Amino acid sequence: MCQNRGFTIDISAPNACNAAALAKFEVLVREGGEVDPNTIHALIERALSLAFVKSPSSLVGVGAIKRPNPSYRNRVFRSASSALNAGHFEFELGWVYVRPSAQGHRLASRLVQKLMPTLKGAAVYATSRVNNERMHASLVRGGFRQEGPSYPSKLNEPEIQLFVRT
Ligand SMILES: CC(C)(COP(=O)(O)OP(=O)(O)OC[C@H]1O[C@@H](n2cnc3c(N)ncnc32)[C@H](O)[C@@H]1OP(=O)(O)O)[C@@H](O)C(=O)NCCC(=O)NCCS
Repeated sequence: MCQNRGFTIDISAPNACNAAALAKFEVLVREGGEVDPNTIHALIERALSLAFVKSPSSLVGVGAIKRPNPSYRNRVFRSASSALNAGHFEFELGWVYVRPSAQGHRLASRLVQKLMPTLKGAAVYATSRVNNERMHASLVRGGFRQEGPSYPSKLNEPEIQLFVRT
């Protein structure tokens, strides 16, 4: 657990969480955006570890070590022109979201750092839009480095940068 101005960060495996906790987690993941509502539930249940950032009164942030679908993961590494073996990366750091009211307290950085030991040394990747300076700083603080050039995703959206931690 991490104490920071009344905020706590708990890390749990999905199978150690009750249905109510998983439902609240999913609400925040959806609030963070850029998720497929049809697959999100199953992906949460098969994640390696989930981070819950709590204020004294509510859940204010989330993050996870996910098990991405191999086809999606391989596409990311190809798009980033990475020479690394995508198959080496079973895990992805994702769904990092801190509600606006709780942002700016270094909760994302702490959340990322607290998730890292659950990997037990396994390689992990993450992606972030190039203009997301806070997320980039959190990733670097968590031991990630940029891999390859940024690449376009959707029209009129900032490009995406791949990060890896090996
Ligand atoms: C991105 C997001 C998770 C950051 O959450 P946060 O708790 O406010 O971030 P933090 O306070 O932990 O700041 C993260 C880092 O950015 C640094 N930072 C803060 N403002 C910054 C700025 N304007 N430019 C660069 N770095 C900045 C912080 O110092 C910290 O780095 P440090 O740990 O090395 O000191 C949050 O803004 C969010 O949920 N955004 C919407 C969803 C999203 O973009 N998720 C990421 C998807 S990949």
